[in-house]
Amino acid sequence: LVVLALAAGGLAAWLYEGALRSNVGDLGFRNRLRVPPLLEPETDRSGRRVFDLTAATGATEFLSGNPTDTWGVNGSYLGPTLRARTGDRVRVHVTNHLDEPTTLHWHGMHLPAAMDGGPHQPIAPGATWSPEWTVTQPAATLWYHAHPAGRTLEQVYRGLAGLFLIDDRVSATSGLPHRYGVDDIPLIVQDKNFTGDGQLDTGRTRFSPIGPLGDEILVNGTHDPYLPVTTRLVRLRLLNASAARTYDFGFTDNRPFAAVASDAGLLPAPYELRRLRLAPSERAEIVVAVSPDDHVVLRSHPTGLGGGALPDRFAGADDSFDILRLQAASRLTGPTALPEQLPAPAPVIPPAGADRRVFTFNHASRINGHAYAPHRIDFSVAPGATEIWELRNGSDNPHVFHVHGVSFTVLSLAGSRPPPHLTGRKDSLLLPAGTAAVIVVRFGTHADPERPYMFHCHLMAHEDHGMMGQYTVTGGRTR
Ligand code: C2O
Ligand code: CU
Repeated sequence: LVVLALAAGGLAAWLYEGALRSNVGDLGFRNRLRVPPLLEPETDRSGRRVFDLTAATGATEFLSGNPTDTWGVNGSYLGPTLRARTGDRVRVHVTNHLDEPTTLHWHGMHLPAAMDGGPHQPIAPGATWSPEWTVTQPAATLWYHAHPAGRTLEQVYRGLAGLFLIDDRVSATSGLPHRYGVDDIPLIVQDKNFTGDGQLDTGRTRFSPIGPLGDEILVNGTHDPYLPVTTRLVRLRLLNASAARTYDFGFTDNRPFAAVASDAGLLPAPYELRRLRLAPSERAEIVVAVSPDDHVVLRSHPTGLGGGALPDRFAGADDSFDILRLQAASRLTGPTALPEQLPAPAPVIPPAGADRRVFTFNHASRINGHAYAPHRIDFSVAPGATEIWELRNGSDNPHVFHVHGVSFTVLSLAGSRPPPHLTGRKDSLLLPAGTAAVIVVRFGTHADPERPYMFHCHLMAHEDHGMMGQYTVTGGRTR
């Protein structure tokens, strides 16, 4: 693969190093999986970990012989992986070399609203925005992405997204594989449409009621990827960074795997699964065992969540996709078993008499009947408050609830207790058509009456069309 890294910074961040053709196996898995590079921060004099990010245009060769115009962070497509530990003070300089405003939102991060990078922190072309905060939450696979009002789909689709991993005191000794790029592999999964000349088609041709559904899969920006595996256990950090598509991951031989973390933290124990559904913006960490010379394919199976009344070309479409082939070496190293318990963060227990709120999603551009308006604050909460939220999807389409600045715990989903892999901390939740969920949310303590946090549907077309509201953390409560 050739990368024309026109991007500023020229960090050659995407060294598609090893992006060589595989000599073995099917034609279908021709490209070695790219692993986003870890961005090494500088430590400044006051001990802050300082990261430099630049958003710019570039060109990337996803399909052979056809460079695609893309956007990226420190490279031509997607961005480097940021990593910090609980307790670290972090500062990020985000420079915009695009010719339109952007923002960079730290999805899942607990931080003051002024640092959040949502629509209220635009970065003008040529400008640099430098948020800073202290990491206070437990180990998790978070991510960052552009979030400008009305332009999130377009900018993320072109490539403005990356991972932000948090480690804590216990996560490195949890017994889970943790060598980044070796046995701990991030998988940023996205579906795309390409035009005949290899350009990204941000969805006009295959627009469904839930947004654009692509017919090609990129994993970390790699088309048809394979991953050489050298250990018996492989940890895969799955992020669905697609605009609209929900995946139902499983292996082609139906082997079991262990779910070990949800969006915002480790689970209390590994849970055995054969299928795992992830909606846009949800994450899951799984561990799969391989044997010597194994060639097994991670596949997404049809979900039935295409989105209600689909255009003809989707009706009956087989939305099953090969995601990645794992190619195990003949000699494998490392442990064969996972620990029985994991150092999960304590669950949030709702106090008796916790305040309740209801959110209804029954129109693709509204929540509780309101479309997003930048100056309307929908409600305020007290610092550190714990509330119970009921999320009701009364529409014919799925929606994906996401709230900024916090993590939540799912109390019930479609009237039942959530399955074990959804019992951990989350920040995004799939609400299939016609279902309701109840979650418990504990807010942060950074009061700021001026600056709101967002909550919205993470189907990017719905969000861009106004299925988004905002709340503030302030001294008192208002309705
Ligand atoms: Cu992933 Cu409001 O965002
Ligand atoms: Cu939606």
